[in-house]
Parts: sequence; structure tokens; C-alpha cells
Amino acid sequence: MSILKIPTAKAFEPLLQPGRYKAVFGGRGSGKSHFFGELLVETCQAERGTLAVCIREAQRTLAQSSKRLIEGKIASLGIASGFKLFADKIETPGDGIIIFRGMQDHTADSIKSLEGFRIAWVDEAQSLSARSLALLRPTIRAEGSELWASWNPRRKTDAIDDFLRARKPPGAIVVHANWRDNPWFPAVLEEERRTDLSLYPDRYDHIWEGDYVRAFEGAYFAEMLTQARKEGRIGKVSADPLLPLRAFIDIGGSGATADAFTIWVTQWAGAEIRILDYYESVGQVLAFHVNWLRSRGYQNAILYLPHDGVATNNVTGKRYEDHLREAGFTVEPPVKNQGRGAAMMRIEALRRLGPQIWWNEATTEAGRDAIGFYHERRDETRNVGLGPEHDWSSHAADGLGLMAICYEQPGRAAFNRPIRYTEQGWV
Ligand SMILES: Nc1ncnc2c1ncn2[C@@H]1O[C@H](COP(=O)(O)OP(=O)(O)OP(=O)(O)O)[C@@H](O)[C@H]1O
Ligand SMILES: [Mg+2]
Repeated sequence: MSILKIPTAKAFEPLLQPGRYKAVFGGRGSGKSHFFGELLVETCQAERGTLAVCIREAQRTLAQSSKRLIEGKIASLGIASGFKLFADKIETPGDGIIIFRGMQDHTADSIKSLEGFRIAWVDEAQSLSARSLALLRPTIRAEGSELWASWNPRRKTDAIDDFLRARKPPGAIVVHANWRDNPWFPAVLEEERRTDLSLYPDRYDHIWEGDYVRAFEGAYFAEMLTQARKEGRIGKVSADPLLPLRAFIDIGGSGATADAFTIWVTQWAGAEIRILDYYESVGQVLAFHVNWLRSRGYQNAILYLPHDGVATNNVTGKRYEDHLREAGFTVEPPVKNQGRGAAMMRIEALRRLGPQIWWNEATTEAGRDAIGFYHERRDETRNVGLGPEHDWSSHAADGLGLMAICYEQPGRAAFNRPIRYTEQGWV
């Protein structure tokens, strides 16, 4: 066994011992990729016959893999003789190999080909889906095998953050590293960093310090949430037992292409709008959502659906609103489609109401994250706005926007009076 003496940044030292999970998260240029690239080459050199796989969530070409970085490390460490470079793989000393794979190209069956591998390194792991992580973990099962991950955090609920930071399996070694921990931090990046700090302070902490994304340029509700925080309107907010609960729903698809299904539970108390609870799930059946409503004591809540609430559930062929009525809920007739520009109307309505909104801190965090992220899609070349970006955040925003539209039409919503369903034949 040959031992290489490679200088390692202090922050990464905990990762030099064996561990089932080794992880580095942090901002740009912290040396995450270089560290794991080096550790991999070093391990392949020291332990003959090591089988290793470098993983990305999506890898359409090898240019999107860590191959080039690893080849550079082999050259700069001056150990090229033991390694053989091929177009799609690297042979390592003692019949070992390093290969490069995209998780999206794998099925539950094809992933089994990786079972004998001892090291799996996922770079850019913020993109790793929950499915991919669940497939990968039991696949990497060789004696003493290790899973490595490096990433720039985006959302607390991303699969990798949830697994390695929120739940954190015992024995996982997780390091937070930033630019200042990188002794080789290059001058060009230092200049970029300073530019961001002065011109784009909003995104600086996400890009350079490894914080989750808070606000984005073109974020519609970032200011509204900052204001709420400043004025102490995010805290402990409880329900008034004498007032009706109103649950605003946004419906994603169902089945393989399912979007998120979101529910905001609110109460209108005088001029105050209380946001009591938030629910979001992806790819679940209606019974699952109904269960959540019941388990939280919202069986008497009045439900509001958007226009697609009349659309039929493509599994049962029934309308969502009928399903929910059959489940014993009171359902307001779905809000009429506002036509083109509906999304902008919801945004404006919600912004107007911003100062009246009180948020229950503990139960609305995920929803506030999404609302804060919801932003405009831009055509960068022409520098024009293209309307709201449809992504993971839009269902939360649509759901709360629906609340705002209903609130602003008190006649229709029958402000805190019993509701009569004369409109049931709504088309
Ligand atoms: N061990 C090292 N040896 C030589 N240079 C290094 C080393 N580690 C980092 N660097 C330098 O620091 C730069 C940033 O490192 P690296 O690309 O690993 O950071 P990163 O955290 O993966 O960044 P990003 O978030 O942008 O992917 C590299 O381009 C390289 O110039
Ligand atoms: Mg990197």
C-alpha cells in the first residue's frame, strides 16, 4: 500500500476517517468537489481494487460528471502510472474502476449493477431526488462501503438536506465548509464573491455561505414576509373556536406526473387573517390529504378549491369537489377561473392583504419558504419578465392567492355567515 501525503483543508479533516455517510455542504468555491475528488483518487491508489461510482442526479453527457476533475487530480498528484483513462471510465490500481452515472438513467433493477461498489460519491447532491436517494442507499452495500455527498443547499426539504441534516443518521460525518475554509480559494472567485456581496446582498448568503434560498430576485412575496417578521406577525397564532376555519386547496396532478397538493388553513377574524397551518404533499391520493385534514381537527373546515377543483380526478373520473363533499366536508363552489392573468391577480390580491396577515410560525414554515421563493421567470437576454415561474413553490403561492381572491369578494364568500349552496350546479 502506498501512502500519499495530500494537504487537506482543516475543515475537511473529520472526513478522513471511515464513515458510512460523509458529507460536505456549503457555498460556492469551498473546495467540496476538489476535496472528494482527491480523496477518491487517494483511496483508489491506497486500496487496490477499489470500485467507485461518481453520481449525479442527471448526467446526459460525461462532461456533466466529475470525470474531468478526477483526471486532473490524478495528473496533479503525479500518480498517473497506476491509472488508465478511458472515454467513459477510469481504471485504477489493482483492477479497480471509477465509473460515472446519472440516477435518472437507472431503474430499480438496473441500479443493482452497482451493488459491489465500495464508494459512491454524489456531487451537486442538492438535485438528488428522494427516489434516487432511496434507490441508492441500499444498493451501496459492500463491506465497509461509503456514500459521499457534496452540495450547495437550496431547500431544507430537499432529499439530501432532509436525510443528512434534519434526520442525520447515526455515524454520518457532515461538514459545513465555505470559501474561507478553502486555502486555495482563487482570486477570480474572490472577486465574484465581493461583487455579489455589494450588488446582490439578497442572494449572497445562499450562494457563498451555504444558507438555504430565502429570497430570489423577482420574488413576489419576499418583502411581505420580511415586513411580517419585522412587525412580529410571525409567531404563535391560535384558532378562534367561534369562527369557521377555511382551508384553501391547490390541486396538483395525480400519478407519475403529480405536482404538489397544498392546503392553507386560515381564519378571518375581523381585519386579521390568521394563517394557522400548511400542508404539502406530492403524488398522494385524495384520501391521504383528507386524512391530514381530519387528523389535525379540520373536519369542519370550509374547503375552497380553484377552478381545476371541478376537473375530474383522472383515477376515479369524479370531480374533486364531489369527492370532498362525499367525505363529509363543506365545499365552497370552486372559484371561477380568472382567465389569463389569473396568477397575477392572485399575487396582487395577496400583496394587498399582506399587512393583515398573521402567521403561525411553527406550522407554516414550509409554506412560507415556498411563498418567499415564488418568483418571476425572466428572459435574461431581453431582460423582460415572463410571469410567475411554475415550480415547486407555485402551488403554495396559488393556494394562498386563492384565499386572497376569496377574501376580497366577501359577498361571494359569505363572510362568516352560514353558507347556502344554491350555486351547486356551477359550471
Ligand atoms: N485541494 C485543492 N487543490 C488545489 N486547488 C483547490 C483545492 N481545493 C479547491 N481548490 C481551488 O478552489 C476552487 C474551488 O474548489 P471547488 O470547485 O472544489 O469548490 P466547490 O465547493 O465544489 O464549489 P462549487 O460550489 O462551485 O461547486 C477550485 O476551482 C480550485 O481552484
Ligand atoms: Mg463543486
